[in-house]
Amino acid sequence: MRLFKLLIFLAHWGVTRAEPGKFWHISDLHLDPDYKVSEDPLQVCPSAGSQPVPNAGPWGDYLCDSPWVLINSSIYAMKEIEPKPDFILWTGDDTPHVPNERLGEAAVLAIVDRLTRLIREVFPGTKVYAALGNHDFHPKNQLPAGGNSIYDQVAELWRPWLSNESIALFKEGAFYAEKLPGLSGAGRVVVLNTNLYYGNNEQTAGMADPARQFQWLEDVLTNASRAKEMVYIIGHVPPGFFEKTRNKAWFREGFNEEYLKVVRKHHHVIAGQFFGHHHTDSFRMFYDDTGAPISVMFLTPGVTPWKTTLPGVVNGANNPGIRVFEYDRATLSLQDMVTYFVNLSQANEKGIPLWELEYRLTEAYGVPDAGSRSMHAALGRIASDPGTLQRYYVYNSVSYDREACDPACSAEHVCAMREVAFDAYAACLRAPGAAPAPRLALLLAALLGLRALLAP
Ligand SMILES: *[C@@H]1O[C@H](CO)[C@@H](O)[C@H](O)[C@H]1NC(C)=O
Ligand SMILES: *[C@@H]1O[C@H](CO)[C@@H](O)[C@H](O)[C@H]1NC(C)=O
Ligand SMILES: *[C@@H]1O[C@H](CO)[C@@H](O)[C@H](O)[C@H]1NC(C)=O
Ligand SMILES: *[C@@H]1O[C@H](CO)[C@@H](O)[C@H](O)[C@H]1NC(C)=O
Ligand SMILES: [Zn+2]
Repeated sequence: MRLFKLLIFLAHWGVTRAEPGKFWHISDLHLDPDYKVSEDPLQVCPSAGSQPVPNAGPWGDYLCDSPWVLINSSIYAMKEIEPKPDFILWTGDDTPHVPNERLGEAAVLAIVDRLTRLIREVFPGTKVYAALGNHDFHPKNQLPAGGNSIYDQVAELWRPWLSNESIALFKEGAFYAEKLPGLSGAGRVVVLNTNLYYGNNEQTAGMADPARQFQWLEDVLTNASRAKEMVYIIGHVPPGFFEKTRNKAWFREGFNEEYLKVVRKHHHVIAGQFFGHHHTDSFRMFYDDTGAPISVMFLTPGVTPWKTTLPGVVNGANNPGIRVFEYDRATLSLQDMVTYFVNLSQANEKGIPLWELEYRLTEAYGVPDAGSRSMHAALGRIASDPGTLQRYYVYNSVSYDREACDPACSAEHVCAMREVAFDAYAACLRAPGAAPAPRLALLLAALLGLRALLAP
């Protein structure tokens, strides 16, 4: 009888206790199919443009997009590190940074197909939630607000991961929502096509709600609330600002504020947001009207090491990174985030890529989990403690750039993490302490001072 009671107790306890699960998030693989180790620095990779690439190694170069062997290595490393994830988030950008004339619809689709097949081969039977990036279209960035042959063909490539309803939706606008698999049946992954909101997308200029995606998102989140389900939102281009330079936003302003509004209204059902595009490791806080943290968007680093050519960014390359989230299958609450990386220059020196732990979020920032309150505390430490800021800064480039993050750098990162809204971001940069006098002005002041001293 006592044993029976104990069994009942255990059964009940088994139902209500946290059920830990794991999933992968990868992004921005950016295959350069023409990467080759060449003596001629101008023949290494089309993705370096006209920059010479001296001493290129077999595993890739910081000036180039990924060679196939690097991408292959990253997917097999996932299998090695965490072979049985509940699912995989894959937030797009598969093709190289080259002019449109060097690609074409067929070339773009061939690359999406090649990466899709690799992921399916290494993780057969694993549910993958895949999103298109701004580079997964021809011409790049110009993703339309309606059906077209690329959406049609990608939907077919991804058919093994999608329900019939998602396939139909994808063909119309490249967005969909899918239930979480198996044990984590507590919700859905909402895959957005935020390329529709990208400022460089001329196809959607002037539209109020391209492909009626915002209306659809409202309905999905309202339904989730009614069904007492939680959701993860994923996509490629994130709202807000790029932390590695000043005033660089990706969304058109109206779309940015609309996205923020949706998150504020429905944050009770949003358990996490996962985006790519930056190739860097950062996060974005969402607050309510009272300043309470209500949601977090995690930006995952790229697999490509490619040094960005975006004006205003200094030395913007990164080591290849991949990451695992630990979560509670019952509530979708995020417990931790673990990032793995390969030191690319070391891989080329040693002739073999070694994928190793870079950091565990809870340890790096001394927080109990990866929820919004913890990330708000983490941001507070980054903003106020120089040691924590520097640690964050090294992780931001996946341990590639280990220079000191000076006060101007700190303001750029902290304001980008704290404020997704256009006006609040600008105000943050203007705030005393956030934006110290530009170095040129300091230098001038110093010189003038010196002259005053030297003057007869
Ligand atoms: C991909 O990686 C696996 C595991 O390291 C290796 O066995 C295989 O040869 C690689 N394939 C290519 C084409 O690099
Ligand atoms: C999905 O559609 C295919 C044909 O397009 C059909 O054969 C299949 O039965 C459908 N699956 C479900 C679950 O409805
Ligand atoms: C919301 O739920 C209703 C009722 O179940 C359903 O008809 C509708 O398709 C759902 N909307 C979305 C966008 O999932
Ligand atoms: C990466 O490897 C290079 C070359 O071996 C080394 O100088 C550098 O310190 C390494 N970086 C990290 C973060 O370990
Ligand atoms: Zn990218």
